[in-house]
Amino acid sequence: MEAKRIVLIMGGGIAAYKCLDLIRRLRERGIGVRVVMTRAAQEFVTPLSVSALSNERVFTDLFDLDDEREIGHIRLSRQCELIVVAPATADLIAKAANGLANDLASAVLLASDKRILMAPAMNPRMWLNPATQRNVRQLSADGVTFVGPAIGEMAEAGEAGQGRLVEVPDLVAAIEELLSRPVVGADAAGPLAGRHIVVTSGPTHEPIDPVRYIANRSSGKQGHAIAAAAVAAGAQVTLISGPVNVPAPAGATVMPVETAEQMLKAVREALPADVGIFCAAVADWRVAQPSSEKIKKSDDVQRPRLELVENPDILKTIAQLDTGRPELVIGFAAETESVVAYGSKKHQSKGADWIVANDVSGEGVSGGVMGGERNRVHLISGDGVESWPEMSKREVADALIARVAEFLGERKITKQPKGGKAK
Ligand code: PMT
Repeated sequence: MEAKRIVLIMGGGIAAYKCLDLIRRLRERGIGVRVVMTRAAQEFVTPLSVSALSNERVFTDLFDLDDEREIGHIRLSRQCELIVVAPATADLIAKAANGLANDLASAVLLASDKRILMAPAMNPRMWLNPATQRNVRQLSADGVTFVGPAIGEMAEAGEAGQGRLVEVPDLVAAIEELLSRPVVGADAAGPLAGRHIVVTSGPTHEPIDPVRYIANRSSGKQGHAIAAAAVAAGAQVTLISGPVNVPAPAGATVMPVETAEQMLKAVREALPADVGIFCAAVADWRVAQPSSEKIKKSDDVQRPRLELVENPDILKTIAQLDTGRPELVIGFAAETESVVAYGSKKHQSKGADWIVANDVSGEGVSGGVMGGERNRVHLISGDGVESWPEMSKREVADALIARVAEFLGERKITKQPKGGKAK
């Protein structure tokens, strides 16, 4: 008998074919897969091939008398440890965010009391559409976990951007991580059980016109590793991420954003939190008035001039909140020279309790810090400066989260009031 069971809801999209490999990989790991296919999914993959691979009957119709008599959509939604939606189309996401239940897939989602993992796949414009982003934020707030979408070429010729279904190994890893973690949040075990941690990660993209933007080389690896370490420590984690190509850590609620202004809005929405960790490389400036049309390059048009305006400082804004300030506010400092000196300056000027300063000059750490796998950081706090040795980003994350747990543990013992500034 297979130990774990998931319900896989397949949405209609060209990426649906990847689900065949997904089912095979999951069954190799002893995970039973019961599949619900939307009508659109059946246009891309046949229920027969899905049934052959899953070794189960495939469910397609809300009003199928035989299906309802045999198992029923309510039992279908409950007799599993996890519901996975892949590819999660804009339509399925919208239905779930608004509580619609007019087909079997959406009815199963609405009736479920299980965890839900969604792997979106759609055209990049559809993904970035404010309606989709609003729906994703709503579902994240409702506790749905998102993995992806990844950045890359789309099936349609000439289309590229964020919208691809994550690769099957990443999806399998996210499923396994969620299945291995029976409870997250208030009832979870771990030093940060019952704590809410907000983490920002990745770059921001500030539009110049519909196809161009200002960005930086942040990959999201450090911020995502921090979110994963916090989940592993039992915290409820909200990860607010700019566009990145690394998979979202399973168990974290991800709020994808693009610009600094969206990131600040998402952070405000995610509060209250016990801890805020601001690892994102936020663009300091944005274009005052992005063009609504692609700026043309032609001989008789003057070279375009970009007027820049300052972006809101997210870390400073949150660190200086009078009410609703997280108990512990941690910023990062990305410096290319005098790392500790400039980091200490930011410790003062931003109002953060701790600053994690790292050298992004590309020297010293193998592979460089921005975009690379490793980091060497200096932890700057009211107690002074601690320089840590070079480590993998996950090791830095684990060490930082251990310090956070230690700090919150001490605060609990000394029963200090919430909301004040940490030492
Ligand atoms: O993503 P990786 O490739 O893994 O790389 C990790 C990293 C190098 C991006 C990360 O370790 C790091 O240093 N993050 C902070 C990058 C940065 O923007 O540093 P800064 O010195 O410019 O900003 C200082 C702090 O203010 C940061 O916490 C930043 O999130 C915050 N900030 C900055 C500008 C702004 N408008 N709003 C902010 O909140």
